[in-house]
Amino acid sequence: MLNFLLLVICSKASVCPQIQTVTLIPGDGIGPEISTAVMKIFEAANVTGDSSRWTRARSSVPTHQFCPAGPLKTPIAAGHPSMNLLLRKTFDLYANVRPCISIEGYKTPYADVDLVTIRENTEGEYSGIEHVIVDGVVQSIKLITENASRRIAEYAFEYARNNQRSSVTAVHKANIMRMSDGLFLRKCREVAENYKDVKFTEMYLDTVCLNMVQDPTQFDVLVMPNLYGDILSDLCAGLIGGLGVTPSGNIGANGVAIFESVHGTAPDIAGMDLANPTALLLSAVMMLRHMGLHEHANRIQTACFDTIREKKVLTKDLGGNSKCSEFTSEICRRVQDLD
Ligand SMILES: *[C@@H]1O[C@H](CO)[C@@H](O)[C@H](O)[C@H]1NC(C)=O
Ligand SMILES: *[C@@H]1O[C@H](CO)[C@@H](O)[C@H](O)[C@H]1NC(C)=O
Repeated sequence: MLNFLLLVICSKASVCPQIQTVTLIPGDGIGPEISTAVMKIFEAANVTGDSSRWTRARSSVPTHQFCPAGPLKTPIAAGHPSMNLLLRKTFDLYANVRPCISIEGYKTPYADVDLVTIRENTEGEYSGIEHVIVDGVVQSIKLITENASRRIAEYAFEYARNNQRSSVTAVHKANIMRMSDGLFLRKCREVAENYKDVKFTEMYLDTVCLNMVQDPTQFDVLVMPNLYGDILSDLCAGLIGGLGVTPSGNIGANGVAIFESVHGTAPDIAGMDLANPTALLLSAVMMLRHMGLHEHANRIQTACFDTIREKKVLTKDLGGNSKCSEFTSEICRRVQDLD
C-alpha cells in the first residue's frame, strides 16, 4: 500500500547522459491528485521536455532510476512489509534530509526559520534488534557503526558545502551513551577536519530542543543518529507549519534518491480536489536541485512561495477556500509569468 507518492530520477550521467528519467509513484489517498499537480507545474516550467522524461510506476522502481516519493501508508498490521521500508532497504537510503524554511504569508509562531535536518536512516535505535531476555524484560539494541556514521557525516558536510550553508551541528548524547554516540561524534569530528570551510559544532540533543523552541534561527545544518533525527525533523517541520509544507528527501547509495511528502494519504478528502500539493512540490524542487536543475527549482519555488504570500488562491489547510486544481493553476501561471 502506498501512502505517498514518489518521483525518481536517474542521477548518474554515466547511466543516462542525455535523458534524466524521473519515476513518479502517485501513492494512495490524495497521492494521485497532488502528484498530478506537481506534474502540471513541472510542465508549465518546461522541466519536462527534450532533456527529461517522466515515467509512472505503480509499485516498482527500476534499479537504474532515482526516485522522489509521496506518502506511503505503513501497514500497521503484521503481514506484508511496508513499501517505505522496502524502498529504504533496496536503495540503501541512508540519509533523510528535510529543509525547514519559514514560508512568508503562512503564519506560525516562528519567522525566519531556515535549517536542514540530516538524519542517519539505516541503524541506531531503529536497528530492529530486540529480544526478550526473561519474561517481562525486553532488550533493544542501538547499533552504531563507524562506516554509517562517517557516511552520514560526509553527506552532511557535502550538503552544507553544495548548498551554501555555513555550519553543521552534530546532535548527540555522548555524555550518556559514551560508546555509541561517542563513536558517532568522533566520526563527525574526523570528517569535519576535511571541511574547514564549514563551521562544525556539537550539541546535546536536550540542549538543541531547548534552544530550538526559544530561537530556531540560530541553527543551520543538523546531523544526527536515527531516533534523534526522527523526532527532531518532525519538531522542526512543526516550526514552519507542519508536514503539509515540509519537503523530504532520502539519499541512497549509487546515485538513487527518493523525494517524498511525508504527510499522510488523507483518505477523508481523497478525490475531492481539496488537497494541498505544497509538500510534494517542494520535495520535487529538492529533487531538481539534486539533479542540478537549479534554475527550474528556483522558478517553481518562487512561484509557490509567491502564491502563498499573496493569499488569494490557497487550499483550505493554508487558510483559503480554493481547490487543489485552482492552487495548482495559480502556481503554473506564476511559473510562466516569471519567465
Ligand atoms: C567499512 O567500510 C570499509 C570500506 O568500504 C570496509 O572495507 C569495511 O569492511 C567496513 N567495515 C565494516 C565493519 O563493515
Ligand atoms: C516552454 O516551452 C514553450 C514551447 O517551447 C514556450 O513557448 C514557453 O515559453 C516555455 N515556457 C517557459 C516557462 O519556459
